[in-house]
Amino acid sequence: MLKAVILIGGPQKGTRFRPLSLDIPKPLFPVAGLPLIQHHIEACTALEEVKEILLIGYYPAAQIQQFVTDMQHQYNINIRYLQEFTALGTAGGLYHFRDQIRCGSPDAFFVMNGDVCADFPLRELYEFHKEKGKKALVTVMGTEATRQQSLHYGCMATDKTTHEVTHYVEKPSSYVSTLINCGIYVFSLDIFHTIGEAFNSKQQEFYRNGNGSKDTGYIQLEQEILTPLAGSGKIFALQVNNWWSQLKTAGSAIYANRHYLELYRIKHPERLCQTQTSAAGDSCKNICDIFPDVHIHPSATIHHTAAIGPNVSIGPGVTVGPGVRIRESIILADAVIENHSLVLHSIVGHNSRVGRWTRVEGTPSDPDPNKPFAKMENPPLFNHDGRLNPSITILGCYVSVPSETILLNSVVLPHKELARSFKNEIIL
Ligand code: GDD
Repeated sequence: MLKAVILIGGPQKGTRFRPLSLDIPKPLFPVAGLPLIQHHIEACTALEEVKEILLIGYYPAAQIQQFVTDMQHQYNINIRYLQEFTALGTAGGLYHFRDQIRCGSPDAFFVMNGDVCADFPLRELYEFHKEKGKKALVTVMGTEATRQQSLHYGCMATDKTTHEVTHYVEKPSSYVSTLINCGIYVFSLDIFHTIGEAFNSKQQEFYRNGNGSKDTGYIQLEQEILTPLAGSGKIFALQVNNWWSQLKTAGSAIYANRHYLELYRIKHPERLCQTQTSAAGDSCKNICDIFPDVHIHPSATIHHTAAIGPNVSIGPGVTVGPGVRIRESIILADAVIENHSLVLHSIVGHNSRVGRWTRVEGTPSDPDPNKPFAKMENPPLFNHDGRLNPSITILGCYVSVPSETILLNSVVLPHKELARSFKNEIIL
């Protein structure tokens, strides 16, 4: 039997994802029509050995519980939310809830960062971990990054024949390796001895020298567990070439949306709209011009003269008027895009309204296609001159954009009624 833990963080995390995370916890933000961590859950349920999924985070339970109940019904698997009383770090929560993870004696358990998106190769990871035998405490999913980008991730040096991690540095200040940690792991239950030792030495330190601002149960998996384990023969890395990306900024949601839609082609074609000629699939009652890949919630109403795609997700209750063109965008629940408007590289928040003959456009922020292994850049909102870095356009929820205006590379906070065109601005 196997279990899986998804680390979902809490309200203080995901700040770069604002304003989209202002009214919905980032782990529940819909990408390709599903809450971000539902993609993790789906990957776990594809392994019949996985009998329980534990979400660990410090969001108030009220914000997560409905999702958990929905998931239990949909996938018929035991899913629970375990709430940390405060941020306990990427290993502190695992240790705090160790009895819940250990109960039933799983052979191993997956740990998945809730803010990554991927074609999760969980079966491959588990088989690799098993092959390494009893001495393996951790298998880390690794992927190649560019030299420059690797500095933003956990970097691993490995033995080429045994795949043992010989050296691990979290976000190094200078080059260590282009093999990076994807935040997806398989752990053996014995890992709790190692985390327990780290926990106890922190407690002793606390009683000797007093404490800093963090709770004494705060343990960072990467620095406090993986780094010391490197070179001990107990940590291994499986390098994979599957698609993988972090979801830190709103711009990366558009990129992730595109890749999850592409994966649907193989895994869930029923979630994609067919092109006009082959008639709409079950998920798409509205026939309009579709440029694949497109996901449209069955409750959305799309005018037959609209043209949608590629790489668009349209949420429940959305209304799209005649002559509308939407590309590379996510339109969230109950939004309205009125006649003849254009939405490109943008996220339209739920219940927002885009007037007639209006243009809402952002700048794509994809990985550099000319650099092999390049990942998404997660640039800060402002550049060093204090100007907004061009990125996708985001409308928070309940925003209204008037007719015959242009909104370019801008971020609009929730509940704003715009009265004119804007370019490269944050509208507070
Ligand atoms: N439950 C819980 N409690 N979850 C947490 C906490 C916490 O206190 N802190 C962070 N998390 C969750 C976050 O929500 C996120 O899903 C994941 O753990 C990673 O957290 P970050 O602290 O944001 O780390 P990172 O994304 O910068 O780096 C990590 O992921 C990279 C891959 O995406 C590291 O593991 C890197 O080594 C790795 O390359």
